[in-house]
This record gives sequence, structure tokens and C-alpha cells, in this order.
Amino acid sequence: MKIEFNQFDEEMLNKEATLMTTGNGYLGVRGVHEEKYRNQDRGFFVRGIFDRTVGTEAAELVNLPDITELELRINGELFSLNSPQVTDYRRFLDLSTGELIRSLKWQTEQGDRFKIINKRIVSQKNKEQIAFQLIVEPLDNDCEISVKTGIDGQVSNGGNQHLIERDIRVYDERVLVAEYETIESHLTLGLAMRLNKRGIISAKNRKVQTSIQETCQKNAPFIFEKVVYIYSSLENDYPQEAVKKAAVREIPYEQIAKTAKASWADFWSEHRVVIDSQNTFDQLALDFCCYHLQIMTPDDPQFSVAAKGLTGEGYKGHVFWDTEIFILPFFLHNEPAIAKNLLKYRYFRLAGAKEKARQNNYLGALFPWESALTGYEETPKYAAINIRTGKRQIISSAVAEHHIVADIAYAVMDLYQTTTDQDFMDQYGKPLLKETALFWISRGVEVNGRIEIHDVIGPDEYTEHVDNNAYTNYLAAYNVRSALAQQVGDEKLQQQFAHFLDKLYLPTINEVGLIPQDDTFLSKPVIDLSKYKEQAGNQLILTDYSRQEVIDQQILKQADLVMLFYLQPHLFDFETIKKNLYYYEDRTIHDSSLSKAIHAIVAARINEAEWAYEMFQAACRIDLNDRPHTSDEGIHGAALGAVWLAAIFGFAGITKGEILEINPQLPKAWKKIKFHFYWKDETITIQMTQDAILLTKNSKVKLPIMIEGQEYLLEKKLEWSRK
Ligand code: BGC
Repeated sequence: MKIEFNQFDEEMLNKEATLMTTGNGYLGVRGVHEEKYRNQDRGFFVRGIFDRTVGTEAAELVNLPDITELELRINGELFSLNSPQVTDYRRFLDLSTGELIRSLKWQTEQGDRFKIINKRIVSQKNKEQIAFQLIVEPLDNDCEISVKTGIDGQVSNGGNQHLIERDIRVYDERVLVAEYETIESHLTLGLAMRLNKRGIISAKNRKVQTSIQETCQKNAPFIFEKVVYIYSSLENDYPQEAVKKAAVREIPYEQIAKTAKASWADFWSEHRVVIDSQNTFDQLALDFCCYHLQIMTPDDPQFSVAAKGLTGEGYKGHVFWDTEIFILPFFLHNEPAIAKNLLKYRYFRLAGAKEKARQNNYLGALFPWESALTGYEETPKYAAINIRTGKRQIISSAVAEHHIVADIAYAVMDLYQTTTDQDFMDQYGKPLLKETALFWISRGVEVNGRIEIHDVIGPDEYTEHVDNNAYTNYLAAYNVRSALAQQVGDEKLQQQFAHFLDKLYLPTINEVGLIPQDDTFLSKPVIDLSKYKEQAGNQLILTDYSRQEVIDQQILKQADLVMLFYLQPHLFDFETIKKNLYYYEDRTIHDSSLSKAIHAIVAARINEAEWAYEMFQAACRIDLNDRPHTSDEGIHGAALGAVWLAAIFGFAGITKGEILEINPQLPKAWKKIKFHFYWKDETITIQMTQDAILLTKNSKVKLPIMIEGQEYLLEKKLEWSRK
């Protein structure tokens, strides 16, 4: 279970840093090297710490003062991985323990050899705690070692300065404490670094540092440790005091590591999807997904998951539909309390959503396309400047990508169906269903006696401002139907819901069996997309065609109707799904990382397991590939969630409905899959081979399960095999 980068390559530094991020949902530390390298982007983030600066419109997740940098000199010579005398180099993130380790040998120009090991681990229980260790072992002679490290406030988000340095203190020459305040949002942060050795302190230019010098004997390694603590005013009234108090006691690295490793062991025993595949990469990819899903997700209802987790500045740390549709299910079926928190985050931000609806003359709640701390719309108005035209491209998602409203309602129902938690439904679910359903009834327009939904962007962002996007209309219907079923609102409102459902236009198959993605899609010209599909994810099409030209053709960025098939598997019959999957897949470039794994699920459901497997593997490679810059700005959070979805809802063939259905579709390369699945207040252990299924659970409560069309009752154990 290791993510390894065993060759130092400056070109790969930022990918390496993203993939090897350590964290715990509260904080994330990019897996940067200790030394300075050109173009290496350091990153340290705490969930919820957003700020905006003059001139930028959207709040961004603040890149916090750096704590990772460490300058090492041996006998006066500066250590760098660029030295030709580095051998036995290894660097890996051990996913099973959450520890990042680098080990190597270095021969100085004077000819002496040293073994150097760096370790880093983030505590899982004490979320504010991060531990670092450096071990230098002289292999030939005694030496002089000097180390310089500290808290470096010379950071910014791509040049945007967000922090004011408020206070710097040093205690006992071993505890550095700094206090910062964000410029616009006025959040305070306390950061403390406890060192296991005394040094000479300096504090200037927004940096507080210690310089430690020691003579080191051969065979008696130099062990340097630092433990960092961080609190913000979002969870502590006096963050500076709190970190100072936390740092009073010296805790050895190994002790912190031992506790963190025990937490990870528990995590894996409950969350791991174990597969026996001919391709060992598959297991690694799934482990990588689970690891990152865990470290990107806060377990506090005031916060949600950023599209890039806490691994980089990409998408400014904003929350999208990625959370409810792609990430939440992993928690829902493993640790439902976290899924509940993610929906509470939306509940607590109803004010911003209602305000956005009001400003646009709608009723109810129009959730922002991009959300941050406050819950008001944070989508930047413009994309980057086009260097050919000098103009900025408008981002229309905030104006028209309204399906997010129904996506949130969908997740409420998904949670309710899975947990049957009536209290949650009454307190949080119903208000969300009511306000979202209200939005839809005000969003529809009556045209010739039927209700239509005009001028939207569906999930496919290469098609803009269309009428009756099938995904949007069907999910809006589900949203309103759910509100009606849960009897939210008074009788008058219930009647309005019923009227909306009665009149809403829901696109169905045309004379050739196709469901139109929207009113105009099928009449647009078609072009050969193979060149662009080969380079999926690069948005190459936008270099050959203008955005408007892309919009005016049958070109999809990502799963749209196929997304609907995935979410509502019972809407259409098998042949319709099959025909439309082929049709739309042909026209989908998969330029969004949210796309391939969803296509894989739907392909598995139409018994195309091998095709599904190809798409699954491509989805696994969205971050885990050899291309140096695909993850520079952060991991693809939703894509990681979708890989998990593909394993469970694609290959293990689970379909949720009133009862759980299992229609296994393991690809040939997989001999076996085993995982835990929370469903109706029970945790079921599901094991599956090509021809058999074994379901076990602890309680004797009888759960109906449908396997390949036949209904069974699961008590403690159910064995099934294909005749
Ligand atoms: C996708 C959206 C997604 C966003 C954040 C975009 O490229 O088209 O569906 O929500 O990225 O991941």
C-alpha cells in the first residue's frame, strides 16, 4: 500500500506533493520536500480558512505559513537532492499508516557518507497535530550538523497575500508560536512548533526560525524532531493560547506516529475494498482513493469537502456537487455520521442559497455552484484570460448550472433510504427538501400547458444554456416528488408540488430510441472526437474550436444523461440504457475527471464488464499516471470517489432501491472483491467471486436482498452461487 516516487525528478515535484499529501480532514500538508526546489509549490491548508483579497472576487482556501521547509548542512555543505552524490534514494507514502518517508545516502564533496531519513505523519485523533523527524547517521566520520527550520509566513495563494502576522513568541528556545489573521475574513490562526533541540532564534520578514548546530558522532545518529500544532478561531476562541498549551509537553515522534498508525489500521479494517486482481495496480488505486477520501473530508457539520480536498490551491478550495454525488456515498456506506455532516453543511448554509434564489427571482433555495465558508455563491465570474484574445471567458455555471440544487436533494434521499434515520430527515432533510423543491416549482415555466425548465447547464459543461436538459428535469422531478412524499409544507404547497409533477416535461425516447440530452442537442452537427478522446482531461478541443463552436456541436465534456442512468437506474429499460450509453459515449470526450468512472458503472450494468474495466482503469489513472503535471493543483477528489463508486455500484453490481439488488459484473481480471457496506442500519460484509457471493452481518435482523433477480432474506449469512 505505497505511493512511491523513487526517483528525484524536479519536473514531477508538484504531482508528487499532491499525491503524497498527509492530512486528516481538518488539515492537509502537501508532500513537498524539506529543501527548496525551483517550482515546488508548498501547501498547508486547514478546512474553512477562506479569505478574499482586493481584486479577486472569490474567497479562496488560504495557503498557510509553511512548516515543512528544513535546511540541512553537514560540515557546512548544503544538502540538496540535486547533488550527484545521492544514492539509495526512496520516497514513499505508506497508505496503510499515513506516514511519508524519504531515505537516502549522501556523500559530501569532502567524501564522507551519511544516511538521511525524513519522516512525517499527521495525527488522526488530535487533528491539530503534525509530527516531523529527521535522522542523520554519519557512516564514516564524526561531523558538524546544522539545521534551520521554523514557521514561514512568506506564503501566498498564487501571489494573493491573505495573512497578517499578529504576534510571534518563542518559549524556552524550543517552542515557536505565531499568530496570524486573515485580511478580509478576520479569522485568527495560532501555529506552534515544538522542537526537541534548542537553537538560535531569529524572527524577521514574516519568518520565525531556529538554527541548531551539533557535533554528531559516528554511529550515534542525529535525531531532530518537530511537532506542529494549529488551531483557528473557527474552532477555538484563543487559538494562539491553545497551540502554546498544546506545545508545552514534549511528545516523541514515535509516540505520535504509533497513535496515528493505530487510527489508520482501524480505518483500513473498516473501509478497505480488498480485491484479488490480475493487475495489482487496481488494489493500489482503490487504496489511494480511500486514503484521499479520508484525508479530504472534515467530520464537522460546518465544513464540507473541496474539489481538490486539502491538497492544493486548485478551484480555490471550493465545494461543488462533487461532494454530494461523488464523495458522500463512500461515507454513507461506511460511516454514515460523516455523510450526515456533509448534508448538515448544506442545511446550515440555507441562508446563502435562499438569498441567491431571491436575487434571481426564484423561491426556495438556489445553492451556489461553488461554495466556501459562508454559503454564498463563490464561483469566479471569469476564467483565466485567453492569451490570444486578451479576453476573459465568462464562467456560466453560477448562472445556470442549477442541477446542484437537485443533487443535494438526491443526497438527502440517498441518506434517508440508506440509514432510515427519521430524526435526521425531520430536522435537516425536510427543510432541505422543501426549499429545494420550492426552487424548482419557481424555476419551471409553463409552455403550452406543460412545465419546462429553460436555460440551464446540465452536468455536461460543453453544452450551455439549453432547455429541458434531461438530467436536470428528471432530478428536479425526483426532488419535488421526494418533498411531496415527505409531506413537507402545507396543503397548498403540496398541491403545487403535485401540479409541477403532473405537468413537468420529462424527455423520453424518440423514434430511434434516443433520449435527447436537451431540446436541441440531437439536431446539432457531429464531429469525429477520437483525437480529443485520446487526450481526455486536457481540454484539447478548446484549442481547436471556440467555446461557442463546442457548444454548437454534439460534444460532451462529461457524463450527463449517463449520469442520470447511474443515479436513477430504474428510469429506463435495459435496451434504452444500452443504446443511449453507446450513443453518448461516442460523443463524450471525458475532459472532466468526473466522467469515466460513471460511464464504467453504467457499462457494467449493461453487462459490458470489460469495457467498464477499461474505463475504470482510465479513471484510476486520472491522478496515478506518469504525466508530470496532471495533479499539480491538487487531487481530483470527485474522481477518487467515483472510482470507489465504480467498484461497488459497477463491478460488485449493487443497485439501491427499496431493497438492495446485487448483480455482480466482475471484470475477468478480478477473482474476488470484499468490502463492508452499510445499509438500513446494518453493516454487511460482501464477498464476491466470479460465480459466488457471500454476505454476512452481525445481527439477526432479516434484510431482503435481490441477487440476479431472485429475492433472498439475509440474516447472519447468505451464500449464493451461480448455477
Ligand atoms: C466539472 C464539474 C465539477 C468541477 C469541480 C469541472 O471541470 O465539469 O462537474 O464539479 O470540475 O470538480
